[in-house]
Amino acid sequence: MGRAKKVVLAYSGGVDTSVCIPYLMNEWGCEAVVALSADLGQGEDLEAIRQKALKSGAAEAYVEDVRQEFIEQYAFPALQSNALYEGRYPLATALARPLIAKILVDIAHKTGCDAVAHGCTGKGNDQVRFDVSIAALDPTLKVLAPAREWGFSRQETIEYGEKYGIPSPVKKKSAYSIDQNLLGRSIECGILEDPWAEPPEEVYAMTKSVNDCPAEPTYVEIQFVQGIPVALDGENIKPVELVDRLNQIAGDNGVGRIDMLENRLVGIKSREIYESPAMLVLIRAHQELEALTLPKEVTFYKQQQIEATYAQLVYNGLWYSPLKMALDGFVRETQQVVTGTARVKLHRGTCTVVGRKAKLSLYSEELSTYTSSDTFDHKAAEGFIYVWGLPTRVWSQVHRKP
Ligand code: ARG
Repeated sequence: MGRAKKVVLAYSGGVDTSVCIPYLMNEWGCEAVVALSADLGQGEDLEAIRQKALKSGAAEAYVEDVRQEFIEQYAFPALQSNALYEGRYPLATALARPLIAKILVDIAHKTGCDAVAHGCTGKGNDQVRFDVSIAALDPTLKVLAPAREWGFSRQETIEYGEKYGIPSPVKKKSAYSIDQNLLGRSIECGILEDPWAEPPEEVYAMTKSVNDCPAEPTYVEIQFVQGIPVALDGENIKPVELVDRLNQIAGDNGVGRIDMLENRLVGIKSREIYESPAMLVLIRAHQELEALTLPKEVTFYKQQQIEATYAQLVYNGLWYSPLKMALDGFVRETQQVVTGTARVKLHRGTCTVVGRKAKLSLYSEELSTYTSSDTFDHKAAEGFIYVWGLPTRVWSQVHRKP
């Protein structure tokens, strides 16, 4: 008896996941492999990839278009949480993993698989996200990760594949490891492994270099209803198209690049380049609308207690965890009033919110104006400051020698 009878494999069409198919059958004794590819807006020919899975020996091969679910159920809750890992990375890769895990588990159930497989190696975050998400959704399924155990070099992987009729890649492998979906691109390896080296322009694909950006700024008005973006410049747009269009507009203005050194869950520091135009713009706009519509205490608590934790949970593979679900409840409650419009200026790599408005705005010009027509009771400030400063005054009387 092998490691599993029938296994569903997360299939990308690359050499590693292709070689996983014969490997699972010939080395690990699986009777059949079902290949599953997810359309997350990565812009690849998925029918060709499906055919390649069958040619590589898969018994069945499926493509699932999950773009809408990805944006509505994964990206938008993260947006409502302003989720940025280590304050910067909007989690494009990390958010896709729990959704891929979910469709893997669904297909496993539909096709009678007793195991799920993926092509991750043992050094990254993605293996954690897959393993934990699959376990959360169905703890009875086995998880197999051939590339974590086989110890092949790239050349050995190709040679192993050739034995089973998997053609060696025609294109020379890019110097980079790239993961891409609607929310962005994550780029690693090659020269980027030197944290001192500036990323060459060739690593970028969604964003223009500042040198090639229009001289004039582009303005976009983003309308939110309860923390969800619903329209651009007054035109209602469905979620997938909205993200798509915003990627285009922001990317054309050079907005969305991140060069960061981050802490992986597995203890390694790594240098990452990201492009995530739409998500970065949406988070900025959303933060600004929250500033207008949420009371101070809610904003502070959400920023300080919820958002960083939320981002860490997503990054660390705990999307389907009880804490993450509880935080979703908190965030959802806060978003009831986050309805309005942010006006964003995109210009040569910068994204600036230059206007915001909301029906339920808590901003009062009458109160905040510096002109004499304000309605603020100036005299009341005196008593407030007396009480507010009392503990400091007492401390000073005891400790400060004149
Ligand atoms: N460091 C990022 C993350 O953990 C990106 C990982 C990129 N993955 C990849 N297979 N190239 O989310």
